[in-house]
Amino acid sequence: MTALPQELYKRLKEHVDYFPRKEQAILMCLHEVQDYYGHIPNFALVAVADMLGLPLSHVESVVSFYDMFDRGTPARHRIRVCVSVVCNLMKSHELLKAIRELLGVSPGEVTPDGRFKVIGVQCIGACSEAPCFMVDQDTYKFESKERLYEVLSRYT
Ligand code: FES
Repeated sequence: MTALPQELYKRLKEHVDYFPRKEQAILMCLHEVQDYYGHIPNFALVAVADMLGLPLSHVESVVSFYDMFDRGTPARHRIRVCVSVVCNLMKSHELLKAIRELLGVSPGEVTPDGRFKVIGVQCIGACSEAPCFMVDQDTYKFESKERLYEVLSRYT
């Protein structure tokens, strides 16, 4: 089994120690892994299952359940575009078009420099801000292509 880097292991251990039951740290640990590697590699899944004392199948099912977790091609940042009904009615296709124009990628694709991956997701719970999107853990309302450019510039 590939060992986790010491620095990442330490961060996961802090989450595990924080919760009364170590399995409660699963989402925090998976976020840490994804932030560190830009996705969730298989060996890290095994390490997380081991640290939490959970079957690997359980950790895999949690990762599959949440579309915020990504086992595919790594990228430093994930742009999650809501494609659910409200955002769709509020023209999320214009947001996708602006992303395509600025970054040259569509949902499921990663920019050639590995900086961004674009993912179409279901409601992210910010319908009043529709059409909206997330960059990593931050939520934004799409206002214009210029404003989108400003937002994306913050993520290097
Ligand atoms: S439908 Fe897009 S955030 Fe709810």
